[in-house]
Amino acid sequence: MVDPDGRAVPGAISPSQDLFVNSWDVYRKMVDNDYLSHRGAYAALRSVLLERGSPFSFIDVACGDAGMSVQALAGTPVREYVGIDISQDAISRARAALPALGCTHRFCLGDFRELLSGWSSDADVVWIGLSLHHLALEEKGKVMSAVRRILQPAGHFLVYDESCLENETRSDWLARWDAQESSWSAYTPEEWRYVCSHVHGSDFPESEPTWRKLGKDSGFSRFSKLYESSSNLFSLYCFQP
Ligand SMILES: C[S@@+](CC[C@H](N)C(=O)[O-])C[C@H]1O[C@@H](n2cnc3c(N)ncnc32)[C@H](O)[C@@H]1O
Repeated sequence: MVDPDGRAVPGAISPSQDLFVNSWDVYRKMVDNDYLSHRGAYAALRSVLLERGSPFSFIDVACGDAGMSVQALAGTPVREYVGIDISQDAISRARAALPALGCTHRFCLGDFRELLSGWSSDADVVWIGLSLHHLALEEKGKVMSAVRRILQPAGHFLVYDESCLENETRSDWLARWDAQESSWSAYTPEEWRYVCSHVHGSDFPESEPTWRKLGKDSGFSRFSKLYESSSNLFSLYCFQP
């Protein structure tokens, strides 16, 4: 989103603006080439799930095609999977992937901000992968408070998202993002420009102290960082009641 002067401002992006919806193949290429360090993040998620031991319910917020989530959940005692996404196409793909897990599963089509604020059942684990960064700080806090409200006392809320260094500005973070160009060798120059224009227009990373404060202000008592991408652009945070 941009303001009248053409500056990027945070806010929900419409499905038609979303990179994932707009160009599935471009997004898949990022995942398959591990450009966003999905493998490390989802391996860390899997470790948490295996350590929990007992059967748990799992909400996959902004699930996309759920491909990485299914890999992380395979062989864990997941009892119920719920996927939320605003894109029907993403949900259709996720729906095709879920039977492999052999657990109860369902999907909710819609905006996670509205769906979570009206959510009526409890959850053991809530996961949101690479999808809070489009929101302004206050909106991120509202989503986190909604998750805190539904999370069981022994629950885990895990957020894998863009993380800037302490005192780093958004434009400094974007400069580090842009510096990846030579390593994204699977991308054509057009695809790289397309991704960059999406990131420059819609992404709003937060620093670790800000993520920590968001957690505290949303009512979480415990905060930890479980993983950091080798690029230092993304981190996985765990919030617990
Ligand atoms: C970058 S993909 C992330 C997919 C997956 N979680 C991952 O880790 O790769 C973003 C996903 O969030 C969905 N999305 C974006 N904004 C949303 C919103 N406000 N409510 C629900 N889904 C949303 C998009 O449709 C897309 O599937």
